[in-house]
Amino acid sequence: MCGIIGYSGQRKPLPILLDGLSRLEYRGYDSAGIAIIDGESLTIEKKEGKLQVLKDHLVDKEINGNIGIGHTRWATHGVPSDENAHPHYDNNQDFAIIHNGIIENYAEMKEVLLNENYEFKSETDTEVVAVELSRQWTGNLLETVCNVAKGLEGTYALVVITIKDPETIVAGRMMSPLVLGVGEDEVFLASDSAAILEHTNKMIFLENGDFVEIKNGQYQLFDIDMNEITREVQLIDWEVSEAEKSGHDHFMYKEILEQSEVIERTITGRLELGSEQIPIDLEHAKKFEKIWIVACGTAYHAGLFGKDLFEKVLGIPVSVELASEFRYREPIVGKNDLGIVISQSGETMDTIAATELLKDNGSHVLALVNVVGSSLARMADSVLYLHVGPEIGVASTKAYLGMLVGQLLLAKHWDEFNKLETSFDEISELPFLIKKALECEPQIKEISKSINDKKDIYFIGRGLDYALAAEGALKLKEISYLHAEALAAGELKHGTLALIEKGTPVVVTASQHHLLDKTTSNVQEVKARGAYVIAIGDNSSKKLQDISDNYVTLPEASEMLSTIISIIPLQFIAYHVANLNGESIDQPRNLAKSVTVE
Ligand code: M6R
Repeated sequence: MCGIIGYSGQRKPLPILLDGLSRLEYRGYDSAGIAIIDGESLTIEKKEGKLQVLKDHLVDKEINGNIGIGHTRWATHGVPSDENAHPHYDNNQDFAIIHNGIIENYAEMKEVLLNENYEFKSETDTEVVAVELSRQWTGNLLETVCNVAKGLEGTYALVVITIKDPETIVAGRMMSPLVLGVGEDEVFLASDSAAILEHTNKMIFLENGDFVEIKNGQYQLFDIDMNEITREVQLIDWEVSEAEKSGHDHFMYKEILEQSEVIERTITGRLELGSEQIPIDLEHAKKFEKIWIVACGTAYHAGLFGKDLFEKVLGIPVSVELASEFRYREPIVGKNDLGIVISQSGETMDTIAATELLKDNGSHVLALVNVVGSSLARMADSVLYLHVGPEIGVASTKAYLGMLVGQLLLAKHWDEFNKLETSFDEISELPFLIKKALECEPQIKEISKSINDKKDIYFIGRGLDYALAAEGALKLKEISYLHAEALAAGELKHGTLALIEKGTPVVVTASQHHLLDKTTSNVQEVKARGAYVIAIGDNSSKKLQDISDNYVTLPEASEMLSTIISIIPLQFIAYHVANLNGESIDQPRNLAKSVTVE
C-alpha cells in the first residue's frame, strides 16, 4: 500500500522516479508526487489521480538535481486530493517526506503542533511528521529523523530530504517494506525490489528499526540510536522483463498466460524425496500436533486447499484462519504446532501480526511466500518460496497457483502412505496440463459475453471445488465490480437457492471426481430454478455436460491436479468479463496490491 521510490547518484532523478513509480503504481493509485533537490531549491510536485496525471503535469518541466523521492498513494487518512498527496512538507517547505504506513498517534502530535501555531494543509498523518522534523531539527538529518521516529507509534517506511542538507536522503522502516538498491555510485530506495530491478539486482531489505543515510550515491545503515549496523546484500534473480507487460494489455492477462512456465520453476528441484528445497522433512512434520494456516484474500483461499491435503497426509487437525481475525482472538496455539503463513508479497500487515502471534506462542512458522527477502520470509523459521516471479496485477493469479502447488509439494513430501493418489511423476506434468487448460480461453471469452451484464453471479463446488469457487468469486468481484458469491454446492438449499431465478449465472467446477454425482444433483437443483449454468470439468461427466448451458472441458488428470488447473477458466472469466466492461483491470478501484495497513 503506497509505493515509495528514492534516488541518489549522478543521474537526473526525475525519469528514474517516474519510471519507478510506474512499476509501483499497483501499490496505490489515488495520487502521486515527487520531490527533488538540485542543490539550491527543493521542488515538490504532486497530483490527485493516476500517475499519468502527474506525468502530464511534468511533461514540459525541466527539474534537475541529484537526489529525489517519489510516492504513489493508497489513501488512508484523507480523501485522494492534491493536498493529501505525498510528498508532504513542513511550514517553511524545508523538508519533504514520503511515507507508507499509518502513524497512530498523529492526532495527539497534531494537537500539540496546532497549539504551537504550526499550520496544516492536509488531513494526513504524514504531514504531522514533516512538521515535527522541522520543529526538532538538530542540524543533522539522520539524527533528526531518528529523534522524530522515537515519538512515532504505528507503522512506517519513510523517506526524507531537506534543503538544509541538500546531498542527503534519510529513510527508515517500521513494519512497512523498504528496500535499498545498491548500484555503482548510486543508491535506490523502493517499496519493492521489482521497481528498481532495471538499475540493480543488489538489494538490502531493511529490517524494522533500521535507518539509512544516503549521500552522493553511498549509504550507511544505522539503528534508531544511530549505532552503525550492517545488513546482507542479496542478489535478486528476477528478470526485468518479468515485471513488464511484454506487449499484453494487462499484467493480469500476461500473468495468467505465463502460469505454465512459472509453475515449472515452482516444482523444479522439489520432486524428489529428501529434496533440500523442501524446508520441513517428514520426520519433523510428524511431530506437529496441529497446523494453523493463516493468510488473507486469495492466499487464504489457497490455504483452504491445503487443509484437506495436510489433514490427509499427517492425520492431524488443520485450521485455516483469516489473518485479520486470527490476530484479534485468542486461538489456543501450542509450541508443538506448525503455523503455515501464506502470502504473495510477504508484507501483508495482518499476516505479519498473525505470524508474530504464532511465534509468541512457540510454534514453528513456515512461510509460503513469493517475494524473496520479504518481511514474512525473514520472520519465519522456514521458507518455501513460490518462485513465480513478480506479480504486478492487483488480482492474484499465478501466485495463487504457486500457493496451491507449493502446498501440494509439501504434502507430497509428507505423504508417507501415498494417501494423495498423485505421484511426483504426475506433478511433473503440471506445466503441460496448465498449458492445455489455457486453451479454454476462446470459449471463456464467448461465455463472458453472456454474463458480463448480470448483477449477481454464483460460484459453487464441493470439497476442494468450494475452495476454488471462493477464489473464482473474489477474482470476479475485485476487477469487474459485479456481485459474486461462492457457496459449497450442498449449502445452496439452506438459503441461497432463494436467489436463483431465470438467467442467474451459476459457475460450477467439478474437479472432485468422487463428488461428481452430488455436484451434478446440486446443478440440477439450480437448473430447475432457471439458472444459466457454466460447468467446468473433464470428460468424465456426460450427465453434467448435458444439463449445463456451457461446458468447459479441461484435460484429464488425477483429481488433485484437476482441481489445480480448474482455476484457470475462473481466472479467464474474471478477466474477460472485466475487459468487456472496460474496467481498470490492473488497478481496480479502492484496492492495492500489497496491504500493509490493518
Ligand atoms: O500478498 P498477499 O498474498 O499476502 O496478499 C493477500 C491479499 O491481499 C491478496 O491475495 C488479495 O486478496 C488479492 N488482491 C486477491 O487477488
